[in-house]
Amino acid sequence: MKKGKLTIPDIITMKKSGDKITMLTAYDVSLARMLDSSGIEIVLVGDSLGMVVLGYESTVPVTMEEMLHHCRAVSRGVENALVVGDMPFMSYQSSAYDAVVNAGRFIKDAGCDAVKLEGGTEVCDTVRAIVKAGIAVMGHIGLTPQTAGNLGGYKVQGQDLDSARILLESARALESAGAFAVVLECIPDKLSALISREISIPTIGIGAGVDCDGQVLVTHDLLGMFEKFVPSFVKSYINLAPQIREALTSYKNEVKGGVFPDQEHSFSMQADISNLIDGEK
Ligand code: KIV
Repeated sequence: MKKGKLTIPDIITMKKSGDKITMLTAYDVSLARMLDSSGIEIVLVGDSLGMVVLGYESTVPVTMEEMLHHCRAVSRGVENALVVGDMPFMSYQSSAYDAVVNAGRFIKDAGCDAVKLEGGTEVCDTVRAIVKAGIAVMGHIGLTPQTAGNLGGYKVQGQDLDSARILLESARALESAGAFAVVLECIPDKLSALISREISIPTIGIGAGVDCDGQVLVTHDLLGMFEKFVPSFVKSYINLAPQIREALTSYKNEVKGGVFPDQEHSFSMQADISNLIDGEK
């Protein structure tokens, strides 16, 4: 893998050379540093932030200010990976002008290298406008959580030929509009394999099978830290939540039992403390 800061052309070259692209989410500097030092190529500050960190029921309420706040933290922790900021619902739908202004804030105010937005053919004029302004855009089709209600909920997309054709057209349209990569969420593996062959920009799959050019997961899911709901396509590589709870309970018990802090975790002093009170007399 290339050393130093990754660029958009590096990511596109990875597809050409068959080098799988890894992308994961981060919302804070600690995790961002860990992803970066693990060699993950793209750090996505996803609007999944809303559900995983902010406790919303969906990604819909997430605001520009919330996204920018977390993007700044992540950008401070990343040296090598490409940082992609997820444009929240209604930050790019009202007009191409609003979309360009908001995309610009992710780059100028929050230190991101690119933005991601959801939608297919219908958002291509917007993608074109943002790219024309000099900002790299990642597309996102299939299950698009910001508009999941219109899709009948959090369901697999593109299972019949008509909807599969629309997704293929959307992927091609995003490529023509200048997107540098496209996320394929919750679509059948055969369809994502076909889309990956048909377009020259990288596909990044989530619940879309092994033949995508790269993969993305929500890091809290991969680490077993978000217990409310785990989609069936997620592989938890470690189950941290019970381990974290065990550590927290040990801390609580040690504090209550007067065991923590012990000598090792306390500071000593040279002077005789009894002289402090004696000196006052
Ligand atoms: O918000 C997010 O984390 C995402 C990924 C799951 C692709 O959009």
